[in-house]
Amino acid sequence: MQQLSKIFLYGIGRRETLEYLPLQQYGNNSSEATQPAPCFPAGFPSILIVPMLLKNQVALVTGSGRGIGRAVAHLFAKEGAAVFLAARTEKELAAVAKEIAESGGRAEYATADLTQEPACTHIVAAAREKFGKVDILVNNGGHYGPVVPVEEYPLAEFDKVIAVHLRAAFLLSKLVLPEMYARGSGIILNISSLSAKAAYLWGSAYAAAKAGMLGLTRSTAAEAAQKGVRVNAICPGPVTGTRMSKELGADLAKRLGISAEEQLKGFLSSVLQGRAQTAEEIARAALFLCSEQSSAITGQSINVDGGVAFY
Ligand SMILES: NC(=O)c1ccc[n+]([C@@H]2O[C@H](COP(=O)([O-])OP(=O)(O)OC[C@H]3O[C@@H](n4cnc5c(N)ncnc54)[C@H](OP(=O)(O)O)[C@@H]3O)[C@@H](O)[C@H]2O)c1
Repeated sequence: MQQLSKIFLYGIGRRETLEYLPLQQYGNNSSEATQPAPCFPAGFPSILIVPMLLKNQVALVTGSGRGIGRAVAHLFAKEGAAVFLAARTEKELAAVAKEIAESGGRAEYATADLTQEPACTHIVAAAREKFGKVDILVNNGGHYGPVVPVEEYPLAEFDKVIAVHLRAAFLLSKLVLPEMYARGSGIILNISSLSAKAAYLWGSAYAAAKAGMLGLTRSTAAEAAQKGVRVNAICPGPVTGTRMSKELGADLAKRLGISAEEQLKGFLSSVLQGRAQTAEEIARAALFLCSEQSSAITGQSINVDGGVAFY
């Protein structure tokens, strides 16, 4: 019966519907269990009421047209948040917004190049216009940049990589914090990387940007902590299903003169779990850090890397 309860709970789709149904039988021993409600036929699975973790929240998620950002947007919407999507490719944003709407969630989007200040200003204003506020900001959008050694790295490309990750995270934080402070609540999550904590060849701008995001996370957390706002970071390891990761793998393999499969195998051998992470695994960590489940966690960077970095 307990098994059935859980299956029923998760099979129902939107959790919201469950809130109107009575809690009946749940628990590991008979003292925690009650009898089925008279309104249900005998043998009807019992129900655990699980409130949605982000009900009534508005989340602005950058880089949400595909990959990790898309997974975060989907999960947040499923947990009750209204999600505002932003990236440069309208077709991808429209597709994600449609998928979320078809699953019963709420999503709107605006195209934006995060390296441009007016675009960052625009998406915060547009999210407020559509949903009235921004409770959660997830700074996720970005690209890896050239796979070249420092002495060959074009300065303009270095600036772009810093701009899309670090500068945009700073700028968007600057734009949402006054509202969060006025309300006395809010959450910022910066998607950093294992590259901020480990040493890899040929990605100097990316590593610098991602390490900078950790400094930004701690500094903003220190300023915000007593104003009701939490700021954290996630450092994903190899999320090999995404476009960025596939392109990076191909570039690294080319430079190393090996196949993409060999490159990936070599990299994964340094991961304790011996496997890559999925975008959904990163999204679940993001949900934890953006919900009240993590109410005492701020200024932290959480490694979701299968066991590579240990600080
Ligand atoms: N995949 C990994 O192994 C891995 C590991 C550690 C950290 N991360 C981080 O996770 C985040 C998401 O990466 P992903 O792997 O999901 O890559 P992805 O599938 O390529 O997604 C990147 C997203 O960022 C958007 N983006 C890129 N440049 C942008 C710009 N200038 N302005 C606005 N949006 C921009 C992209 O959309 P448009 O191109 O349409 O703009 C896309 O929606 C990144 O910050 C990445 O550094 C990834």
